[in-house]
Amino acid sequence: MKLFAHRGVMALLPENTMSAFELALTSGADGIETDVHLTKDGELVLIHDETLDRTTDGYGAISQHTLSELKQFNAGVRFGMNEPIPTLDELLMLLKGTDKILNLEVKTDVERYEGIEALLIEKLRMHNVDSERIIFSSFNHMTVHHLKKLSPSTEGAILLSQPLYDVAGYMKQVGADSIHPHIDVMTDKEISSLQSQNISIRPYTIKNSRQLDKCVRNGVDAVFVNDIEWARARLTL
Ligand code: G3P
Ligand code: MG
Repeated sequence: MKLFAHRGVMALLPENTMSAFELALTSGADGIETDVHLTKDGELVLIHDETLDRTTDGYGAISQHTLSELKQFNAGVRFGMNEPIPTLDELLMLLKGTDKILNLEVKTDVERYEGIEALLIEKLRMHNVDSERIIFSSFNHMTVHHLKKLSPSTEGAILLSQPLYDVAGYMKQVGADSIHPHIDVMTDKEISSLQSQNISIRPYTIKNSRQLDKCVRNGVDAVFVNDIEWARARLTL
């Protein structure tokens, strides 16, 4: 079972910052999950919320700021650190030459960020990223559908925060390959039924032993965790 660092190692360092991504690499994560938004001037940046308010010393919408404006704010403020908001370019440079998987969660569920799908594909092409190392995901399944149309060879996952009727049938309609459900959303039986149809399952976000045990018991492909070392230690017990 692979371990993905959720927003980097966000338990120990400010979420979605280069420091948290670097710690994911040195902690031996198999992959990194991060959240992608679009700036006013069409740049792809990594931050969880649609606004600056919770995680930085700024306020207001990401979509209303240019990249150079966003670079003035501190995304490390809650940890007493100085950390700029990273761009996708910066993370791709960090991952160059590694074998890590990158899960790009495209945050189009509140702001639609028109055109973000094509920009993402173009960015990955410019960096020569092997499509096997990328997993797109979104709570907005129209985005997953759009990304699969633009890049059929790149894996696309639907994020699910609540149970869904006929998940496999729905995934076919969307064109999705895999599913990233909230850990409490699927029963063992539902997980096993999807696995028997060769659908990869990666639950989020695993924060305690009960949740981790459920993932091990079900043999899921990967889990999203906030602390890689905690998960690794727990798995080797
Ligand atoms: O991609 C898994 C997880 O990150 C989805 O929820 O809100 O933490 O982005 P959230
Ligand atoms: Mg996310």
